[in-house]
Formats: sequence, C-alpha cells, structure tokens
Amino acid sequence: MDTKLVKVIKGESLFPPPIWMMRQAGRYLPEYKHTRETAGSFLKLCYTPVLAAEVTLQPIRRFGFDAAILFSDILVVPHALGRDLRFEENQGPVMTPLTEKDIEKLDVINVIERLSPSFETIERVRSKLDDKISLIGFCGAPWTVATYMIAGHGTFDQASARLFSYFHPQAMNSLLECLIDVSVDYLLKQINAGADVIQIFDSWAGALDNISFERMCIQPVQRMVKKIRQIYPEIPIIGFPRGANLFYKDYAEKTGITALGLDWSVPLFFAERLQKDFPVQGNLDPMRLVAGGDALDCGVDAILAKLGKGPLIFNLGHGIIPNTPIKHVEQMIKRVRRNQINN
Ligand code: CP3
Repeated sequence: MDTKLVKVIKGESLFPPPIWMMRQAGRYLPEYKHTRETAGSFLKLCYTPVLAAEVTLQPIRRFGFDAAILFSDILVVPHALGRDLRFEENQGPVMTPLTEKDIEKLDVINVIERLSPSFETIERVRSKLDDKISLIGFCGAPWTVATYMIAGHGTFDQASARLFSYFHPQAMNSLLECLIDVSVDYLLKQINAGADVIQIFDSWAGALDNISFERMCIQPVQRMVKKIRQIYPEIPIIGFPRGANLFYKDYAEKTGITALGLDWSVPLFFAERLQKDFPVQGNLDPMRLVAGGDALDCGVDAILAKLGKGPLIFNLGHGIIPNTPIKHVEQMIKRVRRNQINN
C-alpha cells in the first residue's frame, strides 16, 4: 500500500497534505543533542547505524511526521571517495580544497563499501517504522557536492566552483561524472535497503547562470534519474534545486524527477503553475518557524490556500534552523492538519 507521501508524488491531492521537514533530525531537538554527544562527533553519528537510526526516528516519535529521512549528510560521498572531512562547530564542513590532479585519485573502488553504514541505518529504521510512513533516502546533486569539494567549505556565491568550471571544464566534467556514478550506486543501494522515496538536494543550484545551470545542474540530475529508473522505474524522486527560480520549470521537465521541492523564494502563483504538471513540496520560510505566532500561521495558510487543492507535500523551503522552538513546530503541524474533512 502506498504511503500518503507516495500517493501525492504519484499525483493524488490529499488534504491535509503529508508533512515532513528538511533537516528534521537536528540540533533543535534535545534528544538529538543527547545522541550526538553519545556518538562523540557528527560524522561518527552518521556512520553508526544504531545511533543514526535512533536520530532518524526521533522526529517521527515526537511529531508524527509522514516521512522519515535517512540521517546522514550529503558530504559523506566525497568523504567515502577519500577526501578528508570534518565538521567544525559554528563553521560547518571543512575539507581540503580539491585540485584538478586530485580528481583521478578519487577512490571509486571502495566508496560504496565505505557508505554501507547508511544501508544498515535504512534497514534498521524500516524495521521500526510504521508502513504508512515513508522513508526518504537522499544524496547531494553532483554540482552541490562539487562546490564543497572545490572550495573546501561552504560559501554564499560558489565563486571557486564556478571559476573552476570555467578554467578547467574537462576536469569539472570528470568530477561531475564521477559524482553521478557514485551517487547513482549510493541511491540504488538505499532503495534496495528500504528507502521508498529519494530526494536529490541541489542546494546551490541558484548560483548558476543559464548555460551552467543546463550543464551542471540539469544534465547530471537527468542522467542520474535515467540510470536509477533503469533499475527502479517506479521509484518516486523529489528534486530540490534550491534557488533555481525561473529555471524550476525547465529543471522539472528535463530531469525527469517525479516531484519538485520548492525553496521559500518561489512565488506561490508560480508554484501553482508548476503544480499542474508536477507534485510540489515546500515551501515555508524556515524563519517563520523561528518566529512563530502570526508570522507562522500566515505562512502556513498562504501555502495551503494556494497549493492545498493540488498534489502538495507540506515542508519548509530549506532546512530547519537550530534555534527553532519546538512549540512552533507543533503549532505548524497542528495548523496544517487542522482540517481533516476530506481525508
Ligand atoms: O534532514 C535530515 O534530518 C537528514 C539529515 C541531513 C543532514 N544534512 C544532517 C546534518 C541532510 C538531508 C543533510 C543535507 C545537507 N548537508 C545539505 C543539503 C540540504 C541543505 O541544507 O542545503 C547540505 C548542503 C549539507 C552540508 C552540511 N552539513 C552543512 C553545510 C552543514 C553545516 C551547517 C549546519 O547545519 O550545521 C552540515 C552539518 C549537518 N548536517 C548537521 C546535521 C544535523 C549539523 C551537525 C551537527 O549536529 O553539529
């Protein structure tokens, strides 16, 4: 039997819509902070299936979301390819910046074996999760993962990765190709382990101009979707090209994804048009969730009014912010689910 999330991704309109939150397992939850402390570090948490499964399930237990998402990070892929990675408090991920010469040294032989804790996490979560709740597997899109590998840390404009792609187009192609292949294998194994929906995070899609968007965002994801569908033709895939703006339509049509994750800057009238062809997910500003009160209610109501009649997965327009009060998450869920009439 399909879950609510899968029904919507297949085109059904449900009211109230299914709901989950990007980064729903995280530092705004005291139980997450506790388990993270037990693990010792964020990466150890990602690579220890018992603990990763526990934090995956925490937001489901507390809030009753309609989907769980594998607890891991998009940067475990370059880490498993042999790049160094650490997470610094208040700074985020830090890696040694990748040079052209490093690309051929990426360890494509052992990468999937190194990622195997995630498959065990998925199996563990699936065995404990109600059948009505989806388990989302994920990876970063090749462009977004490449931006961190090239700069060695997060930036706001992805200047180093854009320049790298102009100065070294061949090397950039090789890097993207490597990430396409590894990410496809990684996702196939996640599906095999029990993920029933996949999300591809392209958090820095918005940094690209028209030519680069086509080459480094659309084409790689299109190739990934095609390869995944050769093995799992029916698997629902949510694409999230954050900041893609007017490119959202092209992205959805050309990549072949099943549903479209919208960031909070997407105007609702445009979202409504996209929704005629693609189920949509989103797109509450995470700052409204920090603010609570009327700011939160207005944001929720506007999305439900405009998109609630079509296929909608209610979500934030980007990840939840660590200082979000738990009461506000409860308020949001109550508001989204208050109308049970047509269910
Ligand atoms: O959504 C979930 O609950 C599942 C787990 C998940 C994490 N990261 C856990 C995490 C997922 C799906 C991600 C995706 C991810 N990671 C993205 C794409 C989505 C987005 O937010 O744009 C990106 C760009 C990353 C890379 C990353 N990981 C950054 C930039 C940071 C630092 C910023 C921050 O929030 O601290 C991380 C760390 C990270 N990933 C944390 C969590 C819970 C916080 C680490 C900690 O516990 O200290």
